[in-house]
Parts: sequence; C-alpha cells; structure tokens
Amino acid sequence: MKFFVDTADTAEIADLAATGLLDGVTTNPTLIAKSGRKFLEVIAEIAKLVDGPVSAEVVATDTDSMLREAAKLLTLGDNICIKLPLTFDGLKACKRLTDDGVKVNVTLCFSATQALLAAKAGASFISPFVGRHDDVGFDGMDLIADIKQIYDNYDYRTEILVASIRHPVHVLQAAKIGADVSTMPPNVIRQLFKHPLTDNGLKAFLEDWAKTGQSIL
Ligand code: E4P
Repeated sequence: MKFFVDTADTAEIADLAATGLLDGVTTNPTLIAKSGRKFLEVIAEIAKLVDGPVSAEVVATDTDSMLREAAKLLTLGDNICIKLPLTFDGLKACKRLTDDGVKVNVTLCFSATQALLAAKAGASFISPFVGRHDDVGFDGMDLIADIKQIYDNYDYRTEILVASIRHPVHVLQAAKIGADVSTMPPNVIRQLFKHPLTDNGLKAFLEDWAKTGQSIL
C-alpha cells in the first residue's frame, strides 16, 4: 500500500519524507488555507520535497476554467497530479486531461457509482472520503470494498486512494480490502509507528543494557 500525507505543512512533509516511506502528498483548499501560505508557492515547494504525486486541487467549477487552472498547476513540478471534484464538469475535465496523459485525482467521492464514473473518465486516483462518510452514519469502509470489487470486476487501473482517514484502524481496514493508497494527516502516520508494548519493551531493554556497563561504539 502506498502512503500519502494529507497536508500542506512543508516541515511535516520533509520530516516524513526522510523516513523513505512517503509515496506522495495530497492537499485541498482547506489545507492550503490552514497553512496561511500562497497556494502556488507551497505546491511548488512540496513538489520538490517528494518524488511521488502531489495532488493540487482546482477551485474553478466549470470545465474550461478547471482546465486553465490545471495548466497553471502543471507548471509547478513534473509530479503534479490535478485534483478535480467529482462533478459533471470535473469528470469532463478529467477525461480531457487524462487523454493528454495528465495524472488526475478525482476527489469528494461518496458513492461507488461515482467511483465507476471516475474510472471511466480515466482518473489515476479516486478519493473516497471514509471519515466524512462515517460522520454521517455510514460505514466508509463499505464504500472502499464496493469500489474495490467494481474496479476488479472491470480491471480498471484507477487507484483507490482512501481519503479522510481519521485513525490507524482506517488504514488497517483499507489495507485488508486491498486499497492502493491511504492518504493520512501527519498525526495518523506518526500513530502507525506507535505501540505501547514497543515503548515498554524498549525501555526494559535499555535499562537492562545499562546494567551491563557496556557500549557498542
Ligand atoms: C483528501 O485528499 C482530502 O484532502 C482529505 O483526506 C479530506 O479529509 P478530511 O475529511 O479530514 O477533511
């Protein structure tokens, strides 16, 4: 499974990229607003921090304007992936861009049939939002399982990018279903490293090692 970080915080991205475990970055207008930085500037900086795809989202709502914004975003790095909303106009723009070989991440997906449309439009990634789905009383993971089944049935190559992840159990469930990517806030990625038994075990080992009075170096 690929790991993307869902943030526009460049310090966090650089720190997580240093693990070698980061495969890409997703952003959205809310995350850009939270960063307090200029959109084009921050995306260009992120594109240099990671080799993998960096999703930059358009804010236009009609196809032609989306395509104009996409053209500008694509100048910011070779690894820019255009993020488009799952709307009629968004999917028209998706088809145009993917026909030209541009990577597209279709976002704000809340149903398996929407995901089917995105795959037909040639999207590289579909972003179903599991956390927001859970918030309104549905099981977001049922959506991931449905999309996985449909994509496998028809051999669609669109990657399932599980978004709106809130905790490590979402990542576990997505991996068991066989989703391609989890995009996570930095704190969820950090939680994946943690286990209280690892911390306790390490503490005990170090205490016992100290008793030996030895050093390795
Ligand atoms: C995905 O690309 C979105 O940016 C993101 O995962 C949304 O998450 P949220 O529901 O926590 O805002």
